[in-house]
Amino acid sequence: MQTRVSVGPLMGAKSELAVLCVFKGKKALRGAAREADKALRGAIGRMVASGEFKPELRKTRLIPLLERPKGVTPRRLLLVGLGEEEKFTLDGIRGAAAAAAKSVRDLALKNFCVELPPLAGATPEARAQAWVEGARMGLYRMEAYKRREKENTQKLQSVSLLTPQRKEAETLRRGVRRGEILAEGVHFARDLVTHPGNVHTPAFLAREAQKLTRKHRLRCRVLGTREIQALKMGALLSVAQASAAPAKFIVLEYPGRGRPGPPVVLIGKGVTFDSGGLDLKSSSGMRTMKMDMAGAAAVLGALQAISRLQLPTRVVGLLPCTENMVSGKANRPGDVVTSMSGITIEIDNTDAEGRLILSDALTYARRFKPAAVIDLATLTGACVVALGEDCSGLLGNHEGLVDRVRQAAEKTGDRVWQLPLWDEYFDLIRSDIADIKNTGGRWGGAITASAFLARFAEEFPWAHLDIAGPAWRDTDLPYTPKGASGVGVRMLTELVAAWRPLKPTAPRK
Ligand code: BES
Ligand code: MN
Ligand code: ZN
Repeated sequence: MQTRVSVGPLMGAKSELAVLCVFKGKKALRGAAREADKALRGAIGRMVASGEFKPELRKTRLIPLLERPKGVTPRRLLLVGLGEEEKFTLDGIRGAAAAAAKSVRDLALKNFCVELPPLAGATPEARAQAWVEGARMGLYRMEAYKRREKENTQKLQSVSLLTPQRKEAETLRRGVRRGEILAEGVHFARDLVTHPGNVHTPAFLAREAQKLTRKHRLRCRVLGTREIQALKMGALLSVAQASAAPAKFIVLEYPGRGRPGPPVVLIGKGVTFDSGGLDLKSSSGMRTMKMDMAGAAAVLGALQAISRLQLPTRVVGLLPCTENMVSGKANRPGDVVTSMSGITIEIDNTDAEGRLILSDALTYARRFKPAAVIDLATLTGACVVALGEDCSGLLGNHEGLVDRVRQAAEKTGDRVWQLPLWDEYFDLIRSDIADIKNTGGRWGGAITASAFLARFAEEFPWAHLDIAGPAWRDTDLPYTPKGASGVGVRMLTELVAAWRPLKPTAPRK
C-alpha cells in the first residue's frame, strides 16, 4: 500500500472513500470532519450528538453518500472514533489508522483519503509516521502459503494524506517515509517468524541476512559449524548437536555515517524450533515454538530499517541460530559444557537453551568493544507468567541503558517493564559441578535467566528484553494481527535513532 501526501481540501480528493476522524465530547468535529459536516448540512454532528455514532477510539461507521453535495468527490465517508482528546496519543493514531485501513479493505475498495487528526505535542512528521505505521501494520497478512484462497488478496493500494497547508506537505512526506520503513521492517520480521520451522532454518535466516546486504549498506558474515567450533562456542554447539540443520552464527554490520565509533550491538535469539530437547516440551507447549527465533527476526528487521534510514550510529547484529531438537546426539540434562568465555555450564535443563546460545553471542560481542549491547529473546515462560502476554521483561546491568530502552519502547507503543537483578539472584544459578547452571529453580525464572546472561555481559553496558509474551499473539491487537508481532523492530530502530554515548556510570555487577 502506497501513501501519498497532497495539498487541498479532503472532500475534493479523488478517492473512493474519505476517512473522517471524530473526537468524543464538545469539540468532536475538526478540520476536514467539520468541512464534511457542513457539506452534509450537519448530519455528522447530529449522529454524534444523538449518540447514534459514539466516537470511541477505533470505532468506525460507514456513511454511503447517495447523492454527493457540491465539492464532495468521495462516494463514501468513514467515521473513525478517536476517543477523548485528553487521552489521545501517537499509539491512538496507530490504532485509528489500522481500524480505518481494515474497514476500507473489508469494503474491497482500492483507495481512501484522510486528513491527519490533531495531537498536541506531536509534530506533523510524527503524526504522519504513526498513521502510516498503524495502517500498514494493521493490514499485515502472510500469504506465501495460500494457494487457493487468493480472493483474500488485498485490493487496497493507496492512501492519500491530505493537508490544507502547502508548507506542511514536505514534513508529512518525511514522516510517511519513516513510517513505511518501520512498518516494512516489522513486516520483514513477521514474515521470517511466520515461515514454518521446516522453512526458516538457520541456513534460511543466513540467506535472508545476506540478501539484505544486496539492497542496503550492510556487511554480513555467516559462521558455519567449523568456524563456530574454532571459536569454541561450546554452549551454542551443545544446543545445536542434535539437529540435522546445521547452526549458523550470523554477523551483520551497519557501518553508520561518518567516522565509525564503538557500535551498538544487537543480539537476537535464533532458535528456529524449540522442541525442548530431551527435556521435551508438551505438545501444546511445543506448538508455537517456531517463533523461538523472534529475537533474531527483530534484529534483522531493525537492521533493515536502520540501514534504510541511514542512521548515523554504527550497529552490529549478532544472531546465534540453531534448532533445539532430540536425537541420539542430543545434549543431556547434567552435561557440562565450556562456553566461549571459558565459564563452564552445567546443563540442568535442555529446554533452557536460549541462554546457552546467547551466552556465546555475548562473549563474541566483546571483540567489538561495544558502546552497549541489547539482546532480544523469547527466553522464558516465566516472564509471560509475570507480566502477561503483551509486555516484555526488561533487565540489565546499566540503569542509563535500561532507561534508553524504556524511552524507546514508550515512543513506539511497545510495553516493557523492568525486573530486578539483585545480587541474591546470582546465588540461584550456582552449580555443584560447574561454574554455573542454566536454570535457577522454580521462582523468578525470567530473572534467573537474566542473571545467567549477566555473567557473560560484565564487560559492557547491557540490557536484555525477554519478548516471550509479545512475540506471538493468539488474538488481534489494534495494529498487530494475531500471529507473529514483529515486536522489537521499531523499538530497536528508535533506540539507535536516538543514540548518544552513555554516561560512564559504573555498570552494576
Ligand atoms: N523458548 C522457551 C521460552 C518460551 C516459552 C517462549 C513460552 C515463548 C513462550 C525457552 O527456551 C524455554 O523453554 N524456557 C524454559 C526455561 C526453563 C526450562 C528453565 C521455560 O520457560 O519453561
Ligand atoms: Mn526452550
Ligand atoms: Zn527457547
